[in-house]
Amino acid sequence: MIIAETNRLLISKITVEDAPFILELMNTRGWITYIGDRNVKTVKDAATYIKNNQLKAYQTNEFGYYKVQLKAENLKPIGSFGLLKRELLEHVDIGFSLLPDYHGKGYGFEGATAIMELAKNTFNIKTLYAITLPINKPSIHLLEKLGLSYQKTVKPFGDDEELLLFAKNL
Ligand SMILES: CC(C)(COP(=O)(O)OP(=O)(O)OC[C@H]1O[C@@H](n2cnc3c(N)ncnc32)[C@H](O)[C@@H]1OP(=O)(O)O)[C@@H](O)C(=O)NCCC(=O)NCCS
Repeated sequence: MIIAETNRLLISKITVEDAPFILELMNTRGWITYIGDRNVKTVKDAATYIKNNQLKAYQTNEFGYYKVQLKAENLKPIGSFGLLKRELLEHVDIGFSLLPDYHGKGYGFEGATAIMELAKNTFNIKTLYAITLPINKPSIHLLEKLGLSYQKTVKPFGDDEELLLFAKNL
């Protein structure tokens, strides 16, 4: 189900049929380094992950993480962007991840801008958060381009890992 469209991208809900793509994305160096190893190592693991995360989020919150496809390359899936409400953070946060071959081409900004419009206009979100590791310079750069600004450090997973919290009023 398509939920947004930009000049170059289609953004749609993830289904269990996307398991091979999600498996690939979750095992890229960028995902493992900056998001974390979720131990999803087979197509079956990825299908289970999708059911327990993306599909559950659509039911609970209406919003969630989406698949980003390239119109130009026969709808090739190139990333996953979305919105998540975490227990330990007051507001919904935006996140994004692209396959490495598609970094540095402006798809991050283009897709995230569409997600922010959805957050504001469809999901009526007033304050948007984002969290990132302090070493994740491409992510920080993109968040600042999107107009989010650094607030403070947080530990949103209840462990010792400190992340940077960014925010923007929509
Ligand atoms: C975070 C991430 C999505 C950012 O992707 P990105 O490709 O760097 O994002 P951007 O859209 O900002 O594009 C970067 C560059 O492409 C350039 N670009 C090239 N062609 C372009 C075009 N046609 N249109 C716009 N920009 C273009 C831009 O100039 C931009 O650089 P600049 O901001 O210095 O000018 C990506 O690094 C990623 O997937 N990382 C791994 C996962 C991750 O860390 N996620 C975040 C966890 S918190």
